[in-house]
Amino acid sequence: MVKSKTKWVCQNCGYETAKYIGKCPECFAWGSFTEEIEQSNSKYEKTNPIDIGTVSLINEIKVDETFRLSTGFEEFDRVLGGGAVSGSVILIAGDPGIGKSTLVLQTALSFSNFGKKVLYVCAEESANQIKLRAQRVGVNSSNIFVYSQCELENIKIQVNNIKPDVLIIDSIQAVFDRNLSGGSGSVSQIRECTNIFTEIAKTKNITTVIIGHVTKDGNIAGPRVLEHMVDVVLHFEGDKYKTYRILRSIKNRFGCTNEIGIFNMSEDGLSEISNPSAIFLSEKTNAVSPGSTVIMACEGSRVITAEIQALVGITAYPAPRRVSNGIDYNRLLQILAVIEKRIGLKFSSSDVYVNITCGIEIDEPAADLGVALAIITCARDVVVNFDTAIIGEIGLSGEIRKVNNIEKRISEAQKLGFNKIIIPKGNLSKNINFNIDIIEVEKISDAVSACVYKK
Ligand code: TYD
Ligand code: MG
Repeated sequence: MVKSKTKWVCQNCGYETAKYIGKCPECFAWGSFTEEIEQSNSKYEKTNPIDIGTVSLINEIKVDETFRLSTGFEEFDRVLGGGAVSGSVILIAGDPGIGKSTLVLQTALSFSNFGKKVLYVCAEESANQIKLRAQRVGVNSSNIFVYSQCELENIKIQVNNIKPDVLIIDSIQAVFDRNLSGGSGSVSQIRECTNIFTEIAKTKNITTVIIGHVTKDGNIAGPRVLEHMVDVVLHFEGDKYKTYRILRSIKNRFGCTNEIGIFNMSEDGLSEISNPSAIFLSEKTNAVSPGSTVIMACEGSRVITAEIQALVGITAYPAPRRVSNGIDYNRLLQILAVIEKRIGLKFSSSDVYVNITCGIEIDEPAADLGVALAIITCARDVVVNFDTAIIGEIGLSGEIRKVNNIEKRISEAQKLGFNKIIIPKGNLSKNINFNIDIIEVEKISDAVSACVYKK
């Protein structure tokens, strides 16, 4: 019997070595190597050398007008850059139970309504379970085929039989190739199966949606190369305690990244929230209170209005505590340092808590001024009126720096009925007439004098 050759593969990044090593030289993970049988019959040897494809001139390539498919959700379409490009491979990753299967099932209905044939491969659940979910969210169609299968070869055969326009793989970690060593979910299995699905998508022009799991630290489970192989990478995230779900674009070969779509998970499935600002603001009471400000944050192409709350109190601990919810912790420390130096407030014996109430993460610096004013008003027991919106990045010397998309932010504030908006000086270069009181500020102290007053 011929002894099969083996290799050791890092389950974190896919690095290969001939011998076992404890620490991966590529991703520095410890104890991540497992032994796998090396494949001698590479798939590349099987390809027909005569079929070398065609070379086209760029100005002669015809683009099909219907090359983008609508997902049925405007929010999802926007994240994809205007719908799913036919023949593209879309990876949707997220925590278990966040609603990935629900999202793709509802999307499958929309594709089928446009006359597309959908093959839903459920590698994790039985066809019955899919049917139960479909009944719950009201999905019924004679164009959606459900196939409960984990084996790659069988899936390939059914793809050839059914010839779908859209293929859904739920999930890639549960699919396996019998010819490969390593159980389903191992680096080599994920890499090979994704490779095959990408190849099928490109050669047969099948729009493919792949669901992926995430590890406990939030990264997509499997090799890093997985994200390079697909055209679009989306993260489906949510607040554990709220019903909001956010679809975030991480990579998109056919559109903008950093675009987000917001959904609501209810008893009968996901519905989109096309005006999140109104919903997030509806939670804010009109009574002005110290430590509360409203900011205009930009997420991708859209402006989101959010309330920032801060609480400053005398510390009961040996070391003062800083807690940030929804904004970056280091950013909070920097803002506190600037307030201490430029405004003269001292936090060395105070606890500071900052929270963004809408339940989403805001990671852009334009929120700085709103955070600073929330902290200052709470510490001094003064207020910013609820009709004032705040925009501005804070520099280390206390200067208010310009932000992008200022016109968009101002018009959103105007639309929502704010009377006043604080913006960085010189930021609004275009001569646009807004029906809102625009106050330009140069320093953090100017902002304090412009909108903070005693209750
Ligand atoms: P699911 O789509 O199975 O999540 P994933 O595929 O990401 O693991 O959704 C699971 C959760 O969503 C489950 O806890 C129940 C909830 N849910 C609803 O609240 N409403 C619904 O209509 C559906 C189908 C699920
Ligand atoms: Mg699922």
